[in-house]
Amino acid sequence: MIGEFKNVLLKKEDNIATITLNRPTALNALCNDLNDDMIEAINIIRQDLDIRVLIITGSEKAFAAGADIKEMMDSNLFEAERTSEKAHFINDTLESLPIPVIAAVNGPALGGGCELSLACDFRIAGENAMFGLPEVGIGVIPGAGGTQRLTKMIGAVKAKEMVMSGKMVKGREAYEIGLVTKCVADEEVMEEAVKYAKKLCQKPASALQFAKSAINYAVDNDINTGKRFEKALFSSCFSTEDQKEGMKAFTEKRRPEYSNK
Ligand code: CAA
Repeated sequence: MIGEFKNVLLKKEDNIATITLNRPTALNALCNDLNDDMIEAINIIRQDLDIRVLIITGSEKAFAAGADIKEMMDSNLFEAERTSEKAHFINDTLESLPIPVIAAVNGPALGGGCELSLACDFRIAGENAMFGLPEVGIGVIPGAGGTQRLTKMIGAVKAKEMVMSGKMVKGREAYEIGLVTKCVADEEVMEEAVKYAKKLCQKPASALQFAKSAINYAVDNDINTGKRFEKALFSSCFSTEDQKEGMKAFTEKRRPEYSNK
């Protein structure tokens, strides 16, 4: 364990960090204290250059059942803005981390919990994971990037169905509509996430980082600006030792040995 907070656990093993949401009495509802713990945990990860992949998970019972409704219900406009701002900050920070981030999801990933998973690069879900944005049903809308990320991910038709009608999707359907990367048996979620993370750890860190940046850039920019960005990143790869090693290993018909430099 490299960090133990009130509502979040942080461990590191073989270059893989895992943040476990740990508020079992409220199905990991994302209260203000939990969000503060997340910010601290992410800060530790950002400073630890040994960490190559981050996994975010909840418990076998729940990934996260959303922002804390009880805490939020009497908010005024200013307080609601601060709540949303903090959740956006966490999700934006995860999305722009220079390492891959995997959400390992069992049980409900609802509201802010779903939005947290959407900010990750990969979602590995159990058959009985349940993704949904039920905010409209309680008089609000998603406030942590959900309307934007979900729409860009699965398109406006399906996003409107989930956000406006409150339709929830289980793991298999989430996979079929392009919301999750992989759907596996519930009990295999964490094992699969670690396997996935280990595979990513074998890739050169800089190429992974540039690939993540370029794809994220495509989501927010027009194609010509994106292509210019891609060209700049592509040529930057040639200043890394790993590009030399990767291509040399190919020509020598051997496995590359990356130094992540
Ligand atoms: N906020 C606060 N507490 C929550 C919570 C939430 N989002 N979700 C669950 N809990 C609490 C429950 O109040 C309950 O606590 P008590 O035992 O003290 O009553 C405990 O967790 C267990 O929950 P349930 O008894 O409801 O468990 P269940 O298995 O019957 O139902 C559930 C599970 C379907 C996930 C249900 O809890 C639920 O619908 N939760 C709310 C989901 C939701 O609406 N999320 C969106 C929140 S708004 C948001 O996220 C805004 C944003 O974008 C930032």
